[in-house]
Amino acid sequence: MSFPTVRLRRMRRNPTFRRMVRETKLSVDDLIMPLFVRSGSGIKKEITSMPGNYQFSPDMLVEEARELYDLGIPAIILFGIPDSKDPEGTSAFAQDAIVPRTVELVKKAVPGLCVITDVCMCEYTDHGHCGAITKNIDGELDVHNDKTIALLVEEALAHAGAGADMVAPSDMMDGRVGEIRMAFDERGYDEIPIMAYSAKFASVFYGPFRDAAESPPSFGDRKTYQMDPANLQEAMREIEFDIEEGADIVMVKPALAYLDIIRAGSDNYEVPMAAYNVSGEFSMIKAAAQNGWIDEKGAAMESLLSIKRAGASLILTYWAKDAATWLNE
Ligand code: PBG
Repeated sequence: MSFPTVRLRRMRRNPTFRRMVRETKLSVDDLIMPLFVRSGSGIKKEITSMPGNYQFSPDMLVEEARELYDLGIPAIILFGIPDSKDPEGTSAFAQDAIVPRTVELVKKAVPGLCVITDVCMCEYTDHGHCGAITKNIDGELDVHNDKTIALLVEEALAHAGAGADMVAPSDMMDGRVGEIRMAFDERGYDEIPIMAYSAKFASVFYGPFRDAAESPPSFGDRKTYQMDPANLQEAMREIEFDIEEGADIVMVKPALAYLDIIRAGSDNYEVPMAAYNVSGEFSMIKAAAQNGWIDEKGAAMESLLSIKRAGASLILTYWAKDAATWLNE
């Protein structure tokens, strides 16, 4: 007996067929736009390493937020560049701290837009590390876990107090999600969710961001707190601990070199999965496109689709604004 010829190409023959059998669809609902804010007014300064992205003063950021909202983007995530830095990053939660001030302005002007804040110390410390520095047991300068958590809790409370809709700790200290959750619950912020950067790898793909946020470490690297890119099992443990500590959304970061981690995380845990399509992933394609070597829209949309196909239902991406425009075309 002979079998009929299997022909998968039959359903690829025309755009309507392809549309009907498409398994993954990207939507504007999936997108979160990262934005950088610094003090001043009337400032919209392009970031050299991330063309089309800017350091905004709060007033200009509000305008940008309005445009993003009008495009249908549900959420932004804010990163602050403070006027002053010190060893403990106290400008992250000072009275006039840049992120809380900006949150208030955005929430007043565009109340329907979800404002997420990145909770980390690296933008605020003079040494550029993600927390308070002490000598570790080997005699090396290192970020101290629990001292850092105390600072992160202060920062998260300052953000929540200003009206942030969600906080996103990106420091990779152990136990910070639980401590922030408990502090929130005690202070009446029990309804504010936590999106945890759970499996955040020590990656060179953050390079352009560190220019944007002016946060490169002044010595050493982040390998004592961010994850070893070799480890998938450990990533699952990170995700599991964050869920136990009360994370509402878990994140894998970066995205494209870690699609297997996104897939395993979304298969194993029934918590919404976010992925951060980081600065290096963005800038590589941007640079190639500027050289005429690659089609930016095609490469960007294929990247975002792959992240969604891997299992992420929320995608933090510097293409959020462009992608929303492309999706609306
Ligand atoms: C802060 C933070 C970083 C990024 C997001 N939050 C930098 C880092 O950990 O060095 C990177 C984002 C990107 O590269 O787009 N800790």
